[in-house]
Amino acid sequence: MSLHPVRSTAGALNIHDEESERSSRLQDEIRQLIRTSGINAISFAKFMESALYHPVNGYYTSATQVLGREGDFTTAPELGGVFGHFLSAKIARIFNSSLIPARIYEFGAGSGKLCVQVLSELYRLGCEIEDYVIFEISPRLKQIQQQFVAKQSPEISTKVHWSEFSADKGMQGVVIANEVIDAMPVELIRFVEGRVHQGYVTELGDTFQLEFRTNLEEEFEQTSNQFDWPTFEGIYTSEIHCRAEAWLEKVGDCFEVGSMLISDYGFPQHEYYHSDRNQGTLMCHRRHHSLQDPLEFIGCQDITAHVNFSSLARIAETVGLEVNGFTTLAGFIVDTGLESLDLASLQASEQMSFTQQLNTLTSPSEMGELFKVMELSKNIKPDRLGFETFDHMHRL
Ligand SMILES: C[S@@+](CC[C@H](N)C(=O)[O-])C[C@H]1O[C@@H](n2cnc3c(N)ncnc32)[C@H](O)[C@@H]1O
Repeated sequence: MSLHPVRSTAGALNIHDEESERSSRLQDEIRQLIRTSGINAISFAKFMESALYHPVNGYYTSATQVLGREGDFTTAPELGGVFGHFLSAKIARIFNSSLIPARIYEFGAGSGKLCVQVLSELYRLGCEIEDYVIFEISPRLKQIQQQFVAKQSPEISTKVHWSEFSADKGMQGVVIANEVIDAMPVELIRFVEGRVHQGYVTELGDTFQLEFRTNLEEEFEQTSNQFDWPTFEGIYTSEIHCRAEAWLEKVGDCFEVGSMLISDYGFPQHEYYHSDRNQGTLMCHRRHHSLQDPLEFIGCQDITAHVNFSSLARIAETVGLEVNGFTTLAGFIVDTGLESLDLASLQASEQMSFTQQLNTLTSPSEMGELFKVMELSKNIKPDRLGFETFDHMHRL
């Protein structure tokens, strides 16, 4: 997610030769999927999965630089260590207040910055971590993470391991997933005069187009049926998060004891599907420009949709996870304890950077309100740090 998106496409349109060739190969593969589908179409989620995660030509698998100033968008850990500081305070409290193995599992670690920030801060706090396991689906990002972690001191680098997520693992410890769910493929949903339609991608000459059909795929129909949809006037377009729900169901099911900290852009359901938000939340990012068309720059731009935290809470309960807290990022930071930053002990340049980060993370017009933190716990007595002052659980 770009923090200061520029709405014009000028500059983002410059696509270089290597990108263009990669995008053409990816488009050929997508065409092939459409032609062999039997319905001359693939669901939007299948398209998004190929565009982002095709094993060779997908955006997350092959783009040279995805995150940070030189990439397409910036996440909280890419700004610097302040987000990691507060997240670590919460993680330390979970480990100190329960007898769970001091193990952290991070899903989708991006450039590896959050992993290093969290391990450094926990080390500073004297919280000994046994193991930090990263589950990363992009081989390219995994390589970037490995190179970055290898440069760190042995106290950090020796703790980190990479693993394939497999649903039969008994997980015990703390799970973190920062801006991972908003990068999972979504289905597009459209209501036309009260009738549900599913978004499909079809061919249009040399390009692609979006088409909304009343024939629904099973997974889509099941997810849609779980909602008590309001009556929408006219045409209402949005997204549903079948893949994110399936992911949480799987992870939650094999999670035995501890807490999951999920942080992402998103809303409770009644705000997500508010009648005013009739174009949904799907957004693309390329070189810090905010773009609207997912069928442009295929494989060369990020595609993201906000998270429906109410549906995560509902799924969590079905797999024995308890919602221990849900709040805005600003609320989480304030409750965790602003004073713990100890700005006075920092050099002037660091002070400036920390203040700027704090501003971005807490300002309502930036990440403070839109970005949320949710804790899901299993088989521990949950500690409320981070959620006490501004608890938004009643909004779920
Ligand atoms: C938007 S980036 C966020 C990166 C990082 N967490 C951060 O905050 O900077 C999304 C990350 O999630 C990864 N990802 C997406 N789906 C995943 C899944 N099901 N399992 C593991 N990683 C996943 C992507 O490859 C990428 O590393």
